[in-house]
Amino acid sequence: MKVQIHLPFFSACNLKSVRFWFFAAVLLQNAVAHEASAQLVTIPVETQHNALILQAGAKKDLKIIYFGKKLANQKEYELIPSGSKQIEDGTELLNSAYTPAGSRNLFEPAISVTHADGNNSLDLRYVKHDFQSISDGVSLLTILLKDPVYNFEVTLFYKSYFKEDVMEQWAVIRHQEKGDVVLQKYASANLHLKAGSYWLKQYHGDWAKEMQPEETKITHGIKTLDSKLGTRANLFQPSVFMVSLDKPATEDEGTILYGAVEWSGNFRVDLEVDQQDNLRILAGMNNYASAYTLKANQDFVTPAFLYTLSSQGKGLASRNLQQWARNYKLLDGKGTRLTLLNNWEATYFDFNEDKLAGLLKDTRKLGVDLFLLDDGWFANKYPRNDDHAGLGDWQENKQKLPNGISSLVKEAQGNRVKFGIWLEPEMVNPKSELYEKHPDWILKQPQRAEHYFRNQLVLDLSNPKVQDFVYQIVDGLFTKNPDLAYIKWDCNAVVYNIYSAHLKNQNHSYIEYVRGLYKVLEKIRAKYPLVPMMLCSGGGGRVDYAALKYFTEFWPSDNTDPIERIFMQWEYSYFYPAISSANHVTDWGKQPIKFRTDVAMMGKLGFDIVVSKLSATDLEFCQQAIKTYNEVKPIIWQGSQYRLSDPRENSVASMFYINPEQSAGIIFNYLVNNRYDEGSKLPIRLKGLDAAKKYRLKEINLYPGTNPGIDEGKTYSGDYLMKIGFNPVVNASRASVVLKLEAL
Ligand code: DGJ
Repeated sequence: MKVQIHLPFFSACNLKSVRFWFFAAVLLQNAVAHEASAQLVTIPVETQHNALILQAGAKKDLKIIYFGKKLANQKEYELIPSGSKQIEDGTELLNSAYTPAGSRNLFEPAISVTHADGNNSLDLRYVKHDFQSISDGVSLLTILLKDPVYNFEVTLFYKSYFKEDVMEQWAVIRHQEKGDVVLQKYASANLHLKAGSYWLKQYHGDWAKEMQPEETKITHGIKTLDSKLGTRANLFQPSVFMVSLDKPATEDEGTILYGAVEWSGNFRVDLEVDQQDNLRILAGMNNYASAYTLKANQDFVTPAFLYTLSSQGKGLASRNLQQWARNYKLLDGKGTRLTLLNNWEATYFDFNEDKLAGLLKDTRKLGVDLFLLDDGWFANKYPRNDDHAGLGDWQENKQKLPNGISSLVKEAQGNRVKFGIWLEPEMVNPKSELYEKHPDWILKQPQRAEHYFRNQLVLDLSNPKVQDFVYQIVDGLFTKNPDLAYIKWDCNAVVYNIYSAHLKNQNHSYIEYVRGLYKVLEKIRAKYPLVPMMLCSGGGGRVDYAALKYFTEFWPSDNTDPIERIFMQWEYSYFYPAISSANHVTDWGKQPIKFRTDVAMMGKLGFDIVVSKLSATDLEFCQQAIKTYNEVKPIIWQGSQYRLSDPRENSVASMFYINPEQSAGIIFNYLVNNRYDEGSKLPIRLKGLDAAKKYRLKEINLYPGTNPGIDEGKTYSGDYLMKIGFNPVVNASRASVVLKLEAL
C-alpha cells in the first residue's frame, strides 16, 4: 500500500522546524499506513502446493494479488504487490477478482449488466467472506460483493481440493432492483497471473479429428476460445486449455495452469494480456445471443470453471486432475467398468434378431462383459434404417426386433453377458412421428427453412414436457428391462436456427437447453445412480466435467484408427483419466489386431468388429488380451499416469501407468513412424517408480506364436529405470509392445 504525504514548504535555514515536520510526517505516514493495513482484508486459498491470494483494500475492490507456489509464511503474501514495479493502473481494477463493467474498468469484464433503470454501470465491492470445510481436503470459500449504488450482488465461490491442487470457481448473481436486470456477461471466474510471457496450448478439431493441439505465445490483446454450437459444443473446439508461464512447460518442468469450463453448451474463455503484461483469464458460459434477464431475488448460478496449477510441468497437472476427477467428479470414478462388444461398425443399421443372436454369442466367445446394441433398433412408421428417419420414435422396430428389447436382454443373459443400448434422446428426424405430433418441441425458427445436421433437429430441452419425454425414454427402457446394463447416449447435431417455442425470451434458449439437459440427467441419476452410461456425441463432440458427473465414460472420437487414437488419447489424457476414455478395437486403420488392441487397452477397452470374421489366431489373441486386460485394468484405471515418450516428438510413443503402491505398472509402447529403420533406438526412461525397489519387466499381450522381445530375466532398480531407462525393442516387426513392470 503506497501512502502519499505532502509536506508543507520549509526553508533550509529553519532546521528545527524541518525536524519537527519530518517527525510529524513519519508519524502521520505510519498512522495512515497502519489504518490502511488495518483495512486490508487478505484471503488466502491454499492447497497442497499453491496459493491464490485475494485482497480487499480501503476501497474494498477485491483483487488477486498472487496465484502461484504457496509460501511458508502466510504473512508474507501481503508483501507480494510491492515487488512489482509495473506502470500505473488508473482503473485499480486490473487485477480484479471479478471485473465489473461500466464503471472504472477498461478491460474485458467478468460481468456486465443493464440495471432495471437502464443504466449499464456496475461496481462491486467486498462485503464479507466465509470459509467452510466441506469434507476432508475440500473447502469452500464464499465472498460477497455488492454494488454500493444498486441493489445488486455477486457471491464468488472457490471450492478448493487440497491434495489435488484443484480449484472449482463459480459465481451466483442476484439483485433486488425494482424490475428485471439484464446480464450481458456473466463469467464463472476471473484470474490474474503475472509472468514474463504466456504460452497457450489449445485444441481444435472436427468430426474424427478431435483434440488437435496447437501451442502459441499469447500476445497483447484478447485471445478467445469459444463455442456457439449449442449442443455438441466441443466439435470444433473444447474448453480445455493450458497456459505455461515464462516458457512452454514440458512434461516434468515449468509452471502451467490447466483450465476447463464445466458446461456442456456454449462456452467462452478470454485470455487477455494487458498493458502491464499480466494475463487475465475470464471463463464461463458464452454470452453470445444470451443476454439473460434476471428477476429480483432470483439466483443466476454460473457453471464452475475448473483449474489446476503445477510448477512441475504438464505431467503433474494431469495426474492431479485425473485424481480429482476419479475422487470427486466422474460418475463412479473409483468403481469398475464393463468391457464390451458394440455392433455399430459391424452391422451399421442392418441387423435383425438372428444377426443379433449371433453377435450375442460372439460377445460371449470374445470374453467381454456386455453387448452394446447401437443405432437402428427403433421406429416403425419411419423405420430407422439409415440416418434420415426415425429419431424420436423410441419403440422397437417390429421388423427387425419382433420380440422387442426384452427378448434380447434375456438372450444376452442366456449367453452370460450383459446388454446395453444406444440412444440419442435429445434429437428428432423430420421424418418421424415425434416431429409430426410435436413440432413445437423442436428448436427451429418458425419463419425460416429448416436446416439439418446429419438430417436431424434438436429437441427443445428448455421445455419441461420435453424433459419429461427424454426422461421417460430412459426410464421406460429400464422399467421394462430392469436388467439393462448400459446406455450409450449420443448427440449428433449442433443447433442451427435456434428458437424455442416454449421460452418467452429467446436470449435464454442456449442456456436453458443445457440446464434442461442437466435436469433430465439429474432425475435419471436419482433413480439409476450407477448404471454405466457413455457420453458420446458423434465422436467426442461433448466431453466436459459437468456432463461427466452423470456419465461413467466418454467416446473420444469416431476415428478409431489406432495411429490417430494414440495422438488423441494422449491429448485427452492431460485432462481425463484413462478409466473414462472408451477405446474400441475396430477395423479402422491398417494395423494388425494386436496393435489396435494394444492402443485400445490404454483406456476402457471395447470392441466393434465382426468377431466371426476374425482368423482363429486373431480371435485367440483377442480372447487372451481381454483376460490380460482384466488382470491389469486396476493399474490403468486407478494408477498414476506418466507420459514417457511423446508421439509428436518421437518415433515411439510410450505411456506408463503405475499403481499407488509403486509395485506394478504397465508400459504401452507404439511405433508411430513407419519410415525405414525407425524404432526405439535408445532406452525410454521410466517415471514415478520407487528408486529403492527392484523391478522385473515382462512382455504381455503377445500375439500367439510370438516370443517376448525383451530379456525378462534381468532385474533393475527403480533408480536405474528412471535414470537410464529400458528399451522395449519397438520396431517395424514389433510395432506395439506392452510391458508389465513388477516389483520383486
Ligand atoms: C455417432 C457415434 O459416435 C457412433 O459411435 C454411432 O453410435 C453413431 N453415431 C450411430 O448413429
